[in-house]
Amino acid sequence: MNTREKLLSPLITPAFTLKNRVVMAPMSRRRSEQAIPSPSAPLYYGQRAGAGLIIAENSAVAANGVGYLNAPGIYNAAQHAAWKKVVDEVHNRGGKIFVQLVHTGRIGHPLNQEGGVPLVGASAVKAEDTIRTPGNEHYPMPAPEVLDTAGVKALVDAHIQAAVAAIAIGFDGVEIHGAHGFLPEQFLHPVTNQRTDQYGGSIANRSRFLLEIMEGVTTAIGKERTGIRLSPFAVINDLPAYAEEAATHQYITNALQQLDILYIHLSSQPLNGLPSITTNYIREVRQCFRNLLIIAGGQTADSGEALLQAGLADLIAYGKPFIANPDLVERFRHHTPLAEANFDIFYEGGDTGYIDFPIIHHDPSPATASFPQAAQ
Ligand SMILES: Cc1cc2nc3c(=O)[nH]c(=O)nc-3n(C[C@H](O)[C@H](O)[C@H](O)COP(=O)(O)O)c2cc1C
Repeated sequence: MNTREKLLSPLITPAFTLKNRVVMAPMSRRRSEQAIPSPSAPLYYGQRAGAGLIIAENSAVAANGVGYLNAPGIYNAAQHAAWKKVVDEVHNRGGKIFVQLVHTGRIGHPLNQEGGVPLVGASAVKAEDTIRTPGNEHYPMPAPEVLDTAGVKALVDAHIQAAVAAIAIGFDGVEIHGAHGFLPEQFLHPVTNQRTDQYGGSIANRSRFLLEIMEGVTTAIGKERTGIRLSPFAVINDLPAYAEEAATHQYITNALQQLDILYIHLSSQPLNGLPSITTNYIREVRQCFRNLLIIAGGQTADSGEALLQAGLADLIAYGKPFIANPDLVERFRHHTPLAEANFDIFYEGGDTGYIDFPIIHHDPSPATASFPQAAQ
C-alpha cells in the first residue's frame, strides 16, 4: 500500500485542480535586488513545480511594506514583469502558483525600502529586535510612523491592487499574509494596536483591517482564488501571547467562513522552538470553517498523510524541505531520503543554495497535463 496515497492525490477546487496535496510554503529567499524578483527566480520556482501548489514568497504590496533586505514587491511594473516570468515558467511545467501578499508594518528598516521610506504601523510601538540592512549591517528596528485612518484605508487598497495585479500577471490566486507579526497581525494585537479609531479597541475593530483586505480582495479577484495565512499563538516578531487571542481568531475564522474564501493556511514553527498548533485547535477551526485548510510547520510525509487521513487538513505545506529538495513530491513518492539545507543560504547567497540543488526524480506529469476541471 502507498502510505502517501492521500498526500499524492489530486484536489479539485472551484477554480482549478491541484495535482497533489503538497504545498510549497511561502519562503522569502531575499535575492530580489531593488525589490524585483531575481532573474533566477523563474528557474527556482520552476524546479519546484511538482508541488500541487506553490505559494511564492511574501511580496510587498507597497514600498513602505518591504521591510527586509532584498525582499520582493508586487507594486510596480518592473516587479510585475519579473513575476510574470516566474508564473509562466511554473505554468509551463504544469504547476499552480499563488503569491503571498505582505505588508511588514513595524518589522523592517527604512534602509531596506525603496527611497528609504519610513516604516508605518497601527501605533508607534517598536519591535525589540535588530534587522539586516545593506552592507550586512544590523540595526534596531525603529518605531513605525502611525497610520491615520485614511492611511489605513490606503493600505487596504494597496492589498486589493496587488491582488488584481497578481491575477493579471497570471498567478492562480493570492494568499494574504495575516501571520507572523506583520501589519495585519499588528492590527489584531492589543500591544501593537493602541488606536482609538474604528481600527482599534474591540476585537471587531482590531480585526477590521484584515477583514477589509479579505473582503476587498475576494470582491476584486474572486473568493475561489483568495487564501489567508494565520499563525495564532505563534508569538513571532515580538508579539507576546494575549488574553483575547483565541476569541480574536474565532471571530476572524467565522468572518472568513462568511466570505467563503478558498483556504485558511495555519502556520506554526515547532522546529524553531515556538508553540505548535494543537490538534484541538485545528478541530475548532474545522468546525467553523468548512473550506480548505492547509497546515504548515515541521511536517513530514508521514505526519502530513496522517493529518489528511484524519480529515484534519486538506493540504500540507512544507517549507525548509523544499529548499534542498526541489523534487520533494517525487522524493515523497519514492521514499527517497531528503537533503538538508544549511541556514547560511536561506536568505542570501545568490544562485548558490538557490537553484543548484540536485533533482533526483523528474515530475512524471507532462508539462501540458490537463486534470479534470471542477464544474464552475
Ligand atoms: C527561508 C525561509 C523563509 C520564509 N519566508 C516566509 C514567508 O515569506 N512567508 C511566510 O508566511 N512564512 C515564511 N517562512 C515560514 C515557512 O513558510 C514555514 O511555515 C516554516 O518554515 C515552517 O515549515 P517547515 O517546518 O516545513 O519549514 C519562511 C521559512 C524559511 C525557512
